[in-house]
Amino acid sequence: MGGMIKVRGARPLYGTVRVPAAKNSVLPLLAASLLCGGPVRLRGAPRLSDVEGCLALLRAAGCAAGWDGGDVVVSGQPSCCRLPGGEAGRMRASVLFAAPLLARLGRAETVLPGGCRIGSRPVDWHLAALEAMGAEAAFAGQRLILTAPAGLHGAAVRLPGPSVGATETVLLAGCAARGRTVLQNAAKEPEIADLARFLNGCGAAIRGAGSGEIVIEGRAGRPLRGASYAPMPDRICASTLVCAAAAARGCVTAAGCAPGLYAPVLDILEQAGCRVLRGADSVTIGCAGPLRGVGRLVTGGYPALATDAAPLVAAALLTARGQTVIEDRVFEARFGCAGGFAALGAHVRVEAGGRELWIEGTGGGALRGAALAAGDLRGGAALAVAALAAEGESRITGCGYIDRGYPGLEAMLAAVGAQICREMPPQALD
Ligand code: EPZ
Repeated sequence: MGGMIKVRGARPLYGTVRVPAAKNSVLPLLAASLLCGGPVRLRGAPRLSDVEGCLALLRAAGCAAGWDGGDVVVSGQPSCCRLPGGEAGRMRASVLFAAPLLARLGRAETVLPGGCRIGSRPVDWHLAALEAMGAEAAFAGQRLILTAPAGLHGAAVRLPGPSVGATETVLLAGCAARGRTVLQNAAKEPEIADLARFLNGCGAAIRGAGSGEIVIEGRAGRPLRGASYAPMPDRICASTLVCAAAAARGCVTAAGCAPGLYAPVLDILEQAGCRVLRGADSVTIGCAGPLRGVGRLVTGGYPALATDAAPLVAAALLTARGQTVIEDRVFEARFGCAGGFAALGAHVRVEAGGRELWIEGTGGGALRGAALAAGDLRGGAALAVAALAAEGESRITGCGYIDRGYPGLEAMLAAVGAQICREMPPQALD
């Protein structure tokens, strides 16, 4: 959608928002639909630019893919192994389409994936796993060409580090391979268990998803069944909501997302002085006076503090009394939003080559509205959260980044009373 988000802050938030389905579950589920011989329906999928991008990739592969009301429906079988470089190069999730195309067509051609500039983000662990399963990887310029002359076979794969995407690649390849795949050092994010739940509902045999070791019994190229599936809620959207309530103060309920999916964020806000009421499938957070800094925080793989939540927690603590230091151990350039925080009057600095954000809270003093520019998805959302704590008006450009992961961030925050809107550029007169 693009345009500019305008925020008039220093107003408390009150109300309830239903948390949308998770971007980081829906995108791998769309890639997984390439393994299914029957139609796939993802119920209540979020309207995100990255979802539209994945639908374009599915159509380029030869499938029919589009919206049916609030659901996404994919049908037909892949017939083209070549993903369009423009779309594939724009988002990280395109790498997840390689394994299913390779499994179904014996070949996959794509480009190195794009995505938010939060680190180098190589795909070497994806490729090494696929090579261990019988694939051959070659580069022709920016294009990546994967072939599997004798098909994929099961293997014992140990990832060098916990990678969400590489774990998902092995799950997808393992489902189609001949024989058993045992994956060790798997990432434990809930989105991986959601993918396994979907695949098993389509006839796959995956055990251990959500733990460090996953076992997949391959189907030797036989397609999976189709399915109708409701993806899990977006724990980072829920984190955004509760951090917004902490930044702006007030009382907000995030409905439809179990607190256990984002427990570290809730624990941090509670430690900072918010009241947090944890229901089975919702959270109510109340914040009145100034918050307290919480000292040193470290991100990591689930169930640790999610790297995606780091900028959002930072935004909530800019006006706290006392220091907070957040170290991101997953990505090396997560805090691109620090410049925007400083423009709002926050006392922040980036250390350790970009991995640490140091926040000397303003001690309860308000921030001041400013002109801001989003540089990545979660950093952009964090600027909007911080602007809610600022007196006066803030304007945020670069909203295309935000639209990759939020089906209307300003609408979600306006629903709980934020003075926030989207201003679109004037249509060029033809
Ligand atoms: C997924 O990215 C998410 N994206 C990211 O969310 C999220 O931040 C990340 O997982 C960590 O939770 C999607 O699911 C579409 P990784 P992914 O592989 O899979 C290194 C958002 O804002 N690595 O777990 O790309 C990598 O550089 C996005 O919604 C390799 O070295 O993350 C990083 O340091 C941002 N080689 C670490 O592993 C590889 O082959 C973890 O990355 C793969 C990864």
